[in-house]
Amino acid sequence: MEDSNKTWSGRFSEPVSELVKRYTASVNFDQRLAEYDIQGSLAHAQMLSEQGIISSGDFHAIQQGLQQILEEIRNRQFPWLLELEDVHLNIEKRLTALIGDAGKRLHTGRSRNDQVATDIRLFLRTAIDHIIQLIKAMQQAIVDLAEQHLHTVMPGFTHLQVAQPVSFGHHLMAYFEMLKRDTERLADCRKRVNQLPLGAAALAGTSYPINRERAAQLLDFESVCQNSLDAVSDRDFAIEFSACAALIMTHLSRMSEELIIWMNPSFGFIQLADRFCTGSSIMPQKKNPDVPELVRGKTGRVNGHLIALLTLMKAQPLAYNKDNQEDKEPLFDTVDTLTDTLRIYADMLGGVEVNQAAMRASALRGYATATDLADYLVKKGIPFRDAHEIVAQAVQYAERKGCDLGKLELPELQAFSPQIQADIFAVLTLEGSMQSRNHTGGTAPEQVQIAIQQAKKWLTADPDSSRA
Ligand code: ARG
Repeated sequence: MEDSNKTWSGRFSEPVSELVKRYTASVNFDQRLAEYDIQGSLAHAQMLSEQGIISSGDFHAIQQGLQQILEEIRNRQFPWLLELEDVHLNIEKRLTALIGDAGKRLHTGRSRNDQVATDIRLFLRTAIDHIIQLIKAMQQAIVDLAEQHLHTVMPGFTHLQVAQPVSFGHHLMAYFEMLKRDTERLADCRKRVNQLPLGAAALAGTSYPINRERAAQLLDFESVCQNSLDAVSDRDFAIEFSACAALIMTHLSRMSEELIIWMNPSFGFIQLADRFCTGSSIMPQKKNPDVPELVRGKTGRVNGHLIALLTLMKAQPLAYNKDNQEDKEPLFDTVDTLTDTLRIYADMLGGVEVNQAAMRASALRGYATATDLADYLVKKGIPFRDAHEIVAQAVQYAERKGCDLGKLELPELQAFSPQIQADIFAVLTLEGSMQSRNHTGGTAPEQVQIAIQQAKKWLTADPDSSRA
């Protein structure tokens, strides 16, 4: 394999072993960057030619050669070679084979170090834009479901114990808010992704009279990275993206946990469409919520990638180190996992069937309006701590009787406090309780309706305004 060291010329006296070749090569996974690599090369070549660093004849040959390579890659006819280590060298060698010396001039004023940093940023920028769209589609599914359930009462939980009645629509809209922050985080991260490293060359810049701002303009980057050493070495933008991804998955994992609990027959709050579930090979009665379970499971994998990237970066001296080659697989897998998860989730929410009676019965079983009774007593002048104790006793009594507070007779209630009057029964209904929390962010259906209107407005707003 005498050829294998050709890239570094005669500096080396022996070829690398097969194992080292395999160990150091990244082409099996970084070929995924090919389209971005070509995009970056085209802008670089155009800038070089505009600056008179290469001739316009060379530039046009490069353009045509890269176009042909792009087609070969798309048609799966491109001869990827492990010997050529990575996506960059594979494309450059092929270009030279196709167009001769002009191909060898493409790398003028550039290094693979600023090249790869550019490629990842282009990849990530596209991925972020796509992911934001997918999150919005999922948010739309949440809004659609929530709108059907403004008045559907479910038990709100703390400690997974029945706490107070809430509107199912309100519960769903909590996830809308989480995802909204997630899109804002991504849009903010995008600003730092959208800076051009090209021109930093290997680490110190280049002696050719390049125009970095022009390259940035051609590639639609917001601006150029201001320090060449930083530009080629830091992957903080990828770490930041992974942190955003981990949070999104964490939110989806929480929702998954709820779907799984709600689908358990002891709750019976919802059914997921059959296409998101599987049966058991041994227990014929089973319908397993595989998709939400896997979302929960895949969250671990995305969190793991974040740790991988942080660890990859933590001890690297300036500037570029080969460690950085390890950024790609975690990043690609994060994007793929997140993309698939969001797509499947929007679809799954569209198929959720709600059992309102089961939600209602569960709220009634759990004394969800106990706080409302306490608040009623407070309004009659009883100090809250005393009211709390009175209600605790009333709940204990109702529990022994096996009924909800609202099912007790007035004299029974009055035994706990003479302040209790007939108007208590309106207070003790699930709907009364829900409606009374009528302020911004509260669970009253009127407020949930407002939240949904605002959500719809936000979803249809100009996406560029959130990027500003
Ligand atoms: N495949 C390398 C990477 O992904 C490209 C940059 C290599 N640069 C170098 N000086 N060896 O990081």
